[in-house]
Parts: sequence; C-alpha cells; structure tokens
Amino acid sequence: ASTLGAAAAEKGRYFGAAVAANHLGESDYAATLDREFNSVTPENEMKWDAVERTRNSFTFGSADQIVSHAQGKGMKVRGHTLVWHSQLPGWVGGLAAGDLRSAMNNHITKVMQHYQGRIAAWDVVNEAFQDGNSGARRSSPFQDKIGNGFIEEAFRTARAADPAAKLCYNDYNTDGQNAKSNAVYAMVRDFKARGVPIDCVGFQSHFNSQSPVPGDYQQNLQRFADLGVDVQITELDIEGSGTAQADSYRRVVQACLAVSRCTGITVWGVTDKYSWRASGTPLLFDNNYGKKAAYTSVLSAL
Ligand code: XIL
Repeated sequence: ASTLGAAAAEKGRYFGAAVAANHLGESDYAATLDREFNSVTPENEMKWDAVERTRNSFTFGSADQIVSHAQGKGMKVRGHTLVWHSQLPGWVGGLAAGDLRSAMNNHITKVMQHYQGRIAAWDVVNEAFQDGNSGARRSSPFQDKIGNGFIEEAFRTARAADPAAKLCYNDYNTDGQNAKSNAVYAMVRDFKARGVPIDCVGFQSHFNSQSPVPGDYQQNLQRFADLGVDVQITELDIEGSGTAQADSYRRVVQACLAVSRCTGITVWGVTDKYSWRASGTPLLFDNNYGKKAAYTSVLSAL
C-alpha cells in the first residue's frame, strides 16, 4: 500500500493523527490528513475546558467539526479525553467531594452521549499516575477529593453512557516496564479481575533523547495485552531527525505489529509545522507537508 492508513489496514490496524479543527481549512493539511490517515484524535477540542468550560453548559462546535470531517472520510475517531487533571476549568477544582463526583459523572455521560456510536475508543482517564518510583497516583481534584475509586467510577459511568465505545486508560512514561507502568498494570489487572469495564490501554509514546523508545517496549505492550485488553500507541512523536528518528519510528511500528492486540498507532499531529513540541521536528511530515525519512521508514515497516 502507498499510504500509512492503507498499509496499516492491510495489517488489521489503523494509523491515525491528532488533528486541530482550526487547521482543517488549510488545503495541504486536510489533503495530507485525508490521504494518509484513517483515524483521528482531536488534539484539544474534546478536553474538559473545551466542551464544558461552564458547569453543565456544553460546547461541541470544534469537536463536532473534527468528528464530521472524519466520518465523511470513513476515518475512526479516538475520543480524548474525559477525566484529566490538565486543561480542566477552574470551577471543577473548586467543588467539594460529592459535588465533584456528580460533575465528573455528568461530564462523562453528556460528552459520551453526544457522540454515541461515533467514537471507536475513549481515553476515559488520562495520566492519573505519578512519574518516578512511587507508583502512586498523581494529585488532582479527582484523586484528592474522590480518592482512588475515581478511576473505577469513571469507567463504570463511561460504559453505561456508550456501551459500544471501547474504554481506554491512557498515560505517558508507561511505554517500558518501570514503576509507573507497573502501577498501571496492577490497576488494569485488578479491573479485569473484578469486572470493572476497561477495554484498552493507551501508551502516549512521546519520545526524545532523554526518553527514547524503550528496549522492552514490545514486551511491555505484550504484558498489558496478556491481561485481556487491547493496546494502542496514542500520541506518538519522536524528537530528532534523519536516520536516527526514522529508526526509532520503525521500532515503534515493529513493536506494535508484533503484538496482536496492538490495534493501532496515532501520531500526535500531521506535520512538524503544528507540533505541540514547538522546538522539535518530531512528526512524519515536514513543515511543507513533505514526507520525511521517518515517513518512509514507517510505511515500509507497516
Ligand atoms: C497537548 C496538545 O498537543 C497541546 O496543543 C496542548 O497545548 C496541551 O496538550 N498528553 C496528552 C495530550 O494526553 O492531550 C497533550 O496534548 C500532550 C500530552
């Protein structure tokens, strides 16, 4: 196949990109997206501050634009993200425990019902664990006020809101085996043992020279898959350039393809021009939408 999406589809996978609604009107951006990718993740448009800036008043305009674009092209959509400590409006953190719990459940329910049947997988909870060796939960309004049970509650609420959507836990620095990924692993194992609904684990995979593709990436994906969940590479970008970057991208694709339950890869942007990593060139297309060495390497690995 001659595009990322078609090549991934031949392997039973999808190949997606994070998309920003405000770039869809740029013809090269839309043409590259539509030609190469068969899944999209709204980069910011479904986050809490975008869809419920004011309590119980929902604004879906920009997110709807992305979902309609994707649907029109037959692309899958990953919903990102329902419960996260960041890009959270101030009013949420100001609520007392009981009220926060209802606000969280209301948010999950309203957002998922709005998109019912149109989202393949939701990142229900994003980045709930700390970095470092503690394996502890990260401080957030949800963690600090509702307690450890907030993740389970979010997943149960999500299942009820849209039973057809796959429900994922998503995080970063969990790509290799370490204290943080061990803590996520223990949570997923516990959820599966107790029948808490969870279908997939997302590995963000933001890599750079300080945090390269781990040597045990494939093994780590496999141990999660062995728990009975799908795994997905959800926010891939790799700082660098040339052959080194291309080799790292190839290793990511090979690791996913080697794990039968690794169902797809999403890069965190279409082009270096709009990468959130403003200082770098971490994506597959350059500022002029030219195919980089990393692109060729991914396509031939697929
Ligand atoms: C980033 C977006 O790319 C930026 O545009 C925004 O300013 C901040 O968030 N982990 C995630 C993503 O789960 O939502 C983040 O996206 C990158 C890190």
